Amino acid sequence: MTSFSLPKWFDAHMHARQEGLIAPIVKSQMDMGCYAILAMPNTKPPVSKVHESDGGDGWSIEKYRAMIRDAGFKGHLYTPLYLTKGTTVKMIEDGAKSGMLNTIKYYPPHGTTNADFGIPMADFMASDLPRAMADNGVILNIHGEEHGLCAEHYFDRKTNAEEIFYTETMPKLRDTHPNLKIVCEHITTKVACDFVQGGGDVTGATVTPQHLLYTVGTLIQGLKYHLFCLPVVKFDEDRDALRKAVTDPNNKRIFAGTDSAAHTVKATDCGCAAGCFTGYIAPQLYAQAFEEAGVDLSNAATQEVFKNFLCTNGPDYYGLERSNDSFTLTKQPQAVEKIGTSEGDITPLPLGLGLETIPWSIKL
Ligand code: NCD
Ligand code: ZN
Repeated sequence: MTSFSLPKWFDAHMHARQEGLIAPIVKSQMDMGCYAILAMPNTKPPVSKVHESDGGDGWSIEKYRAMIRDAGFKGHLYTPLYLTKGTTVKMIEDGAKSGMLNTIKYYPPHGTTNADFGIPMADFMASDLPRAMADNGVILNIHGEEHGLCAEHYFDRKTNAEEIFYTETMPKLRDTHPNLKIVCEHITTKVACDFVQGGGDVTGATVTPQHLLYTVGTLIQGLKYHLFCLPVVKFDEDRDALRKAVTDPNNKRIFAGTDSAAHTVKATDCGCAAGCFTGYIAPQLYAQAFEEAGVDLSNAATQEVFKNFLCTNGPDYYGLERSNDSFTLTKQPQAVEKIGTSEGDITPLPLGLGLETIPWSIKL
């Protein structure tokens, strides 16, 4: 039976939520061996200021960090600032100086769950904010989809919102600010992969388990709404490009970021909440994806490639010390169950597809 040890890992993109969800979610991250997390700022209200003493609405990074710690998270914590029309150069300078601000999250306006405060990329690029970020070593986390498109451009056979964003918008940002560190979050297409791989050391990317495991066919066949997340899962050719990128032995800048995003109600009266929950089982799902990509994980050399993707590329990119603690991944099936919370049950993704077991398990 294949079994190997890995250093504890950094989930470079997750949603810790708030109120009754935060403690079970934080627990689910620690239960899957995370020594570090990056908790996205799309709370209600958004995390749109740095210090509690800064004026204006919204939560501060300072407050949200305390909430996540109070909910039981032990480990290293990144909490990006939500880029809104209220974000200023002074916030960036003061925040970077105090050490409270390390990263800023760009959401396309109305592009996904709680993305209503996002500003158009054109406004961001026309401002002094990208320069202030680059000068102060603040990383930009990008949800890479063009906003405000008509349905035919949003998702169609020839193109989609992510491809438009990575061909028309992102090259301008990178060319204008070559020193700005950018993480292209949850990339889903070959076009985005090519953009990331065509960049220098400053361009990084996260990839989720669902985008490595499934295609849009899985979502459509039976309308498996637990798989609905944004950007939506794409085509076989795209999944292939992602699989090639993460399993490349030379990969240093593409890393794990689950985008685990709990919703107690997925199907609504007029649609579906975007976000897949993969908390407590993500290393297992990534291992499954590596195998489905044709990688034999019983071999020390390929275990090393897996380790780079899951455990070391992310910390190295962020300048975070790697963990000295470890956990074990074993090719032994594990049952997946819902997580009960005071706000209702959370269904992990593969269970939401009707899969009650997964091929890998972990031991901390
Ligand atoms: C995320 C959520 O639910 O918070 N949803 C998603 O589909 N990924 C928001 C996000 O990161 O896009
Ligand atoms: Zn997300």
